[in-house]
Amino acid sequence: MSLNKKDINKFHENGFVIIKNFLKKKEINKIFFQMEEMIDIPIKNISKKKFKSFDEKYLYLLKKNKILKSHFYDLTKLLDSIVNIAVSKKFLNVGKKLLKSDTILVDTPQIRADHKSDKRFLPQHQELNQISKDVISFWVPLVNVNKKGGGIFLRPKTHHLGHLTFKNSNMSATSDSRKRQKTVDKIFSKNKLKKYKSIYPSLNAGDAVIFQTFVFHGTTPNKLDRIRWTYISRFNSINKTPYLKNARSTLRIPYDADYNNII
Ligand SMILES: [Fe+2]
Repeated sequence: MSLNKKDINKFHENGFVIIKNFLKKKEINKIFFQMEEMIDIPIKNISKKKFKSFDEKYLYLLKKNKILKSHFYDLTKLLDSIVNIAVSKKFLNVGKKLLKSDTILVDTPQIRADHKSDKRFLPQHQELNQISKDVISFWVPLVNVNKKGGGIFLRPKTHHLGHLTFKNSNMSATSDSRKRQKTVDKIFSKNKLKKYKSIYPSLNAGDAVIFQTFVFHGTTPNKLDRIRWTYISRFNSINKTPYLKNARSTLRIPYDADYNNII
């Protein structure tokens, strides 16, 4: 599977493209199978209880032993199914095509779990603190998502604005907390930027949102009972990487860097 011309045009025009059914059922099932096999180890260590589902096991571990839950979470990114997908042909093909290079950098993939009891939401942000200024991110829900239950929200075409600086834009969206969305909404309420409205795509498990560095994106809280499991991976270009050009550069470009001047 690869992107067609229409998809590539959409990606450049809007800053992202949605590819339906990008992760197949078989791949999703394998991820859940491996996560469940792994969570059974801490679970069996603390309980003899019978569980109805993987979600139930995860929430139980979260409640009974937050540290072991975090240990499980830390190791999900090293599961072979997760790593394999990040370097699978279809992901690499898309990454290489969009970054226009035969050589790209694979960042560590990750799994994200959002659950109802934790009303975490990630305010909209640009994808800073990466290795290159040119980054392709894959946001792939492993369960169905929509506006009502919570999911991803993006502002199409905002990548054309380049790197925007505003109050606290020199820190991560997570550290800036809830105030960040208000700041972003305020910026886009101004006359000139009013046209950049957020969209909240409805996605089935396995549909991929593939987006570039500067398009504003974030996630809304999960309001449903089931956990919102998401697969996230990124490719960085070998170009526009300060780390390869300046001996004093850090591996990741700092949040407070002048991104518009990175060449
Ligand atoms: Fe992001």
